[in-house]
Amino acid sequence: MGGGAEVTLGEAQRAELIEAARSAARHAYAPYSDYSVGAALLFEDGAVITGCNVENASYGLALCAETVAVAKALGEGRRGGLVAVAVTGPTDKGDGAPITPCGRCRQVLNEIAQLGATDPLVLCVGTERTESVSLSDLLPRAFGPANLA
Ligand code: THU
Repeated sequence: MGGGAEVTLGEAQRAELIEAARSAARHAYAPYSDYSVGAALLFEDGAVITGCNVENASYGLALCAETVAVAKALGEGRRGGLVAVAVTGPTDKGDGAPITPCGRCRQVLNEIAQLGATDPLVLCVGTERTESVSLSDLLPRAFGPANLA
């Protein structure tokens, strides 16, 4: 069911993608939660598209970093080719465990992944360690564009 080829990233590429996500988090607009998140999407052609969370005075309208990054990518005409994603959270909140994308973001990531039939590796960054999980493990048996084709 779905499932692209397994992705392996070199150490330098991993570090670069994580740094791109950290850098994006510096632009987070998170005055209500004070929880800055950064996301970086790596594409087959080497392009990296980033996003940060964008909150709103109407709290429920907050956009997550991953969702912002996917919207930017789709808005630039990308329709697949997603090979990896890095997500970073603040280092001074929670227990330092690797941050995993929220449920809605998993579905949003699945949209662009399934368009190109890839199963991106999601680098969930924590204070002590980074956990790499495939999107299909984070969102098994996903509903997506392939269902509607
Ligand atoms: N947030 C993200 O940007 N990505 C996630 O996957 C989890 C949560 C944001 C939403 C909100 O602005 C803040 O983190 C606290 O929930």
